[in-house]
Amino acid sequence: MDNGLEQAASYLRNARRVAVLTGAGVSKESGVPTYRDALTGLWSRYSFEELASPEGFQRNPAAVWTWYTERREQLAHVEPNPGHIALAQFEALFERWDLITQNVDDLHERAGSARVCHLHGRLMETKCFADCRGAPTLIAPEAFVNGAQPPPTCPYCGSWLRPNVVWFGEMLALNDLIIAQDAAEECDVMLVVGTSGLVFPAANLPNTAAQNGAAVIEINPEATDISRIANVSLRGPSGTLLPMLLEWVRA
Ligand code: OAD
Repeated sequence: MDNGLEQAASYLRNARRVAVLTGAGVSKESGVPTYRDALTGLWSRYSFEELASPEGFQRNPAAVWTWYTERREQLAHVEPNPGHIALAQFEALFERWDLITQNVDDLHERAGSARVCHLHGRLMETKCFADCRGAPTLIAPEAFVNGAQPPPTCPYCGSWLRPNVVWFGEMLALNDLIIAQDAAEECDVMLVVGTSGLVFPAANLPNTAAQNGAAVIEINPEATDISRIANVSLRGPSGTLLPMLLEWVRA
């Protein structure tokens, strides 16, 4: 029994343009925690109001900076898993392949994906908290060694530097949103991997794809709101299922 793999592969074999939306689940097998898993998810262990909002940062910049420093250090010790690698290998099979991730890690890039749209930003970058120049500023690694210290300051205006990730209550970068929306509208297949589909506007992309006639394939061990519109739901870990799906498509 193929448990939907054959049907998913058939949609992909007939597709020219594929859009992919990934979430924290795709990095879980690398050892990066998800956000909403009941026991291990970041938001079940930490307060997102304190650690992932502009107000929380203003109240306690050192604590927030320290927490992101620890996440950056953890990221330096993990590797892409077979799911990331399969997604990078899929890319060559299609006329157009848009990889949109909600993840702030860089595991898709490290696995070899060429173009990645980071809807929720990038953990390894920083930007000025006051947004004085409007664009993220890449950080020198030595600036985040002493996580317990107050954050370093912006070389242009002296305000705190902060990680270049989207916090609760903040807008997504317009350019990224346009890329993601365009990919969802124009794809023949949307592959949705490892996301609970609870955070908008990312969670709306599969609906947009379906409304524009695309087939939606979901890979997730659990059912989500996206399962209701998915043409195929592959139930299991993406580190196992994505390499299997790649084999079926190539067969
Ligand atoms: P969540 O933690 O909400 O959901 C993770 C999903 O991954 C769940 O649906 C799990 O069932 C699934 N999952 C777990 N293990 C998996 C595996 N091995 N393979 C595939 N899937 C697996 O994470 P996101 O949906 O990414 O926002 O969360 C969306 C946003 O909420 C994040 O980007 C973050 C967070 O607040 C920002 O940082 C702005």
